[in-house]
Amino acid sequence: MYLILKLPTLALHLIRDERWSAMRNTIISLYQPSHLAGLIPTMQRCIERAADAIPAAAAQEHGDVDLSDLSLKLATDVIGQAAFGVDFGLTVTSGGCEAAEFVREHVHSTTTLRMDLSAPLSVALGLVAPALQGSARRLLRRVPGTADWRVARTNDRLRARVDEIVAARHRERGRDGDGEGARRDFLSAVLDARDRSAALRELLTPEHVSALTYEHLLAGSATTAFTLSSAVYLVAGHPEVEAKLLAEVDAFGPPGTVPTADELQHRFPYLDQVIKEAMRFYTVSPLIARVTSQQVELGGYKLPKGTWLWMAPGVLARDAASFTDPGTFRPERFDLAGEEQRRRHPCAHIPFGVGPRACVGQRFALQEVKLSVVHLYQRFVFRRSPRMESPPELQFGIVLSFRHGVKLVAVERRVGTA
Ligand code: HEM
Repeated sequence: MYLILKLPTLALHLIRDERWSAMRNTIISLYQPSHLAGLIPTMQRCIERAADAIPAAAAQEHGDVDLSDLSLKLATDVIGQAAFGVDFGLTVTSGGCEAAEFVREHVHSTTTLRMDLSAPLSVALGLVAPALQGSARRLLRRVPGTADWRVARTNDRLRARVDEIVAARHRERGRDGDGEGARRDFLSAVLDARDRSAALRELLTPEHVSALTYEHLLAGSATTAFTLSSAVYLVAGHPEVEAKLLAEVDAFGPPGTVPTADELQHRFPYLDQVIKEAMRFYTVSPLIARVTSQQVELGGYKLPKGTWLWMAPGVLARDAASFTDPGTFRPERFDLAGEEQRRRHPCAHIPFGVGPRACVGQRFALQEVKLSVVHLYQRFVFRRSPRMESPPELQFGIVLSFRHGVKLVAVERRVGTA
């Protein structure tokens, strides 16, 4: 939903019915535990590289590290590897990479598009009169200087770059045989699936493949980055939470011990609570959309076919009926054995959406965030910088972000001490 601005109408979250289920079924295997477990070494390499960059980044910025910026680079690098099989190298301080310009544009557009008054007019119109949005956007994108025009230009450039990457992969496969098994990235898996089935070849045209790949880059980077940086920011302000988290990380093994996917799931119950609570405290996707495919009655209202519905997970997350004292950061409220958790409605906390269209990348994102937190806290503790505003100013955009970033002081840990 939150990508509506920037994606061609071929991407997963914008298509419906048969085509949607065929495409979702094709890619869902990439999010199964066995595939995700195989991504741990790739994710870990990117995470270690990002952590290595922290001291140098801090030295340039009066001792502060901008964790939002670093997390976005990290998440984009991870998606680059997982979706395209390309190393964007964003967290590498020196040396360039062939895709650097593409990614710079991506990072820029991800962090600057907004839904406030500076947002494209067509987006605001889409919220009040969705039926008019399409024609308004087509018109406004031709008017130089409007936000719609700027978005369209960035959009076109990014899509052209993705098309280039996909076309290059097609050529590479033609040259080296089908290459099956050689690569484990998303793009290769979709191309393999196409090669195996004539029906899928018809459904997954090259344009759909580009759109799906592009969607992954956008859907998986700013969301995951925000989640990571907000969790570390919140922990930095709550010493009692930090102490429990460090105890769990240290009990797992000496610095450098890399958890398997299974260990990440079962050996870090407090980390689970911290991440859930951070996602509740700052809900990254402000709105989730649905359109009725037939007339339905909901809560006493008759909704005709074609009605747009907007859910606001961040509003649910602040409901005192589900979350005692909702303005307090308290990970223990998600303790599986706790009373508050037991009596809460299962849909009270839905940062990844809900139902058959819920986020396909949920496990991927959680694996990446957990792996990052474990590695970061094996090496550092973080303190809020006096140079950062408090409370942080939030920017309500396609996804939530910190308007001025998250500035932290990273203190290196010595083995066995905080
Ligand atoms: C913390 C990180 C993330 C959050 C909070 C998040 C949140 C969401 C939400 C709220 C939706 C809409 C769900 C609905 O309509 O019910 C969504 C959809 C989607 N997300 Fe995520 N997401 C995250 C990470 C990722 C990652 C890492 C990927 C891919 C690698 C991804 C891929 C997608 C896709 C493809 C859809 C559209 C699914 C469909 O329409 O079938 N997301 N996400």
